[in-house]
Amino acid sequence: MGARIIDGKAFAGQLRGRVAAAVKRLQAEHGVTPGLAVVLVGEDPASQVYVRNKGIQTREAGMNSWEHKLPAATSEADLLALITRLNADPAVHGILVQLPLPTHVNAEAVLNAIDPAKDVDGFHILNVGLLGTGQKSMVPCTPLGCLMMLREQLGELSGLNAVVVGRSNIVGKPMAQLLLNESCTVTIAHSRTRDLAGVCRRADILVAAVGRPRMIPGNWIKPGATVIDVGINRIEEGGRNRLVGDVDFDSAVQVAGAITPVPGGVGPMTIACLLANTLTACCRAGG
Ligand code: GUN
Repeated sequence: MGARIIDGKAFAGQLRGRVAAAVKRLQAEHGVTPGLAVVLVGEDPASQVYVRNKGIQTREAGMNSWEHKLPAATSEADLLALITRLNADPAVHGILVQLPLPTHVNAEAVLNAIDPAKDVDGFHILNVGLLGTGQKSMVPCTPLGCLMMLREQLGELSGLNAVVVGRSNIVGKPMAQLLLNESCTVTIAHSRTRDLAGVCRRADILVAAVGRPRMIPGNWIKPGATVIDVGINRIEEGGRNRLVGDVDFDSAVQVAGAITPVPGGVGPMTIACLLANTLTACCRAGG
């Protein structure tokens, strides 16, 4: 017996295809092209890869893409001035500031300077509050992608026990809010949680977002559970560099009902959801 492998790469490809088709319709019927501006401060190698991929996929979906690459020493005032310009530009429907920002910049101040209607990351405090009260908001891309895969796998989520391991503002907390809005019974577990194994074993839905390689073994998983692994951890193994999740895939796949692989699970869904959010922002703005 083995779990069904949830193919995030294929799912993301389908979502990007639907977004691209909608962009074509918007252009044909309203003469509008959605546009996404991505801001990168500094030279963090992982961030550079993410930003490049975002640009490529944005253009592939037929949208306008702008990359603003600023030196690591950029002042907070200069960054805020750029955000003000992007907020005022009607061709820009979505704004994303790549995190992490250099430590001399107040990330909260920068994120909260973005027009909430253009906040395709869903990190502005207004969008956080709207999501927390179950109102229409911009939803952070990674949890949104996880929810889409869960809905596709399970259909109705109401009443299921969901455990989210990790309490970050980017993934854990918004994921828990989304699952609560779906009427799941939600537990947020973290590094101080007592009997983490026992908590995980109660989960019909287990979302792992802690950033610790293979932390969750198969014997922490309820038989038949749906496991979403958000972790992308680079490790050295057998003299090779490889990517592994927060879940020990080889043991978990024997127990779970369905599981996302790493790579090829949650990762591709994140950028696809960013494109979907940019399209949503464009439509809500009336083009
Ligand atoms: N850095 C890591 N994940 C993210 C994300 O989802 N959005 C942004 N802006 N930066 C990130």
